[in-house]
Amino acid sequence: MWEQVQETVNYINDKFNFKPEYGIILGSGLGSFTDEMKIVHTLPYNEIPNFPVSTVQGHKGALVFGTIGDKTVVAMQGRFHFYEGYSMTEVTFPVRVMKFLGVQKLIVSNASGGVNPAYKVGSIVLITDHINMTPEHPLRGKNDERFGPRFVNMSEPYSRKMIAKVTAIAQNLNIEVYEGIYLGLQGPTFETLAEYKMVKILGADCVGMSTVPEVIVARHMDLETFGVSVITDMGNEESIGSISHDEVLEAAKEAEPKVRKLIRELIVNY
Ligand code: HPA
Repeated sequence: MWEQVQETVNYINDKFNFKPEYGIILGSGLGSFTDEMKIVHTLPYNEIPNFPVSTVQGHKGALVFGTIGDKTVVAMQGRFHFYEGYSMTEVTFPVRVMKFLGVQKLIVSNASGGVNPAYKVGSIVLITDHINMTPEHPLRGKNDERFGPRFVNMSEPYSRKMIAKVTAIAQNLNIEVYEGIYLGLQGPTFETLAEYKMVKILGADCVGMSTVPEVIVARHMDLETFGVSVITDMGNEESIGSISHDEVLEAAKEAEPKVRKLIRELIVNY
């Protein structure tokens, strides 16, 4: 995998000499974030050697390079989910590439189902920690020390400094944010009522089908990481009947302007 990552990085570096400091994975709730960027280059996934190709509706597949203020950024427009059939190595491959393009800080966004009763559809949650219940670990197998250590310290998977910064920004902008623990499952089914209850009993505030593998691999390589989740549905008796992909996309879209502002200010001011 080391050689593949280097090959991909060399391909991109040969194409255009651009060193991003920030990497952003644009999930539901942040899809239009590239509008905040002064775009310098766009590279569709299907042109990038060794990159998987995105399959989910509503997800575009491209690496977008640009600037926000005086910060350099590479954004993943569209991500790879384990439930689509990709291996965990494929799901997390772009994070490895971003690291060797020069990225030091990774921002990850997603949509999730809320089980914390304080949340509502549209709530913005700053992820403070996660519970990994995806069925395969992205670091399983022989460890390559050139990426990072065999046993990764996960005491601070989400940068407390970045969380504090976004909390202050949100206060200034009068945007309501929550903190919460994200539990990662494989999907693609939304959870049963019993599973949402389990998620809550296990100590999480929200549940989704992404983010955890990417953040594990980011921490393996010592990237400073920030995660934000938009609550697109509530996993409780009253709401579970109406949960659908359309509802998720609509709720994510509504919260998008606020999430965009928070992330923009984080990048410019951090
Ligand atoms: N469960 C899992 N993934 C999700 C959900 C959910 O309720 N909402 C958005 N992504």
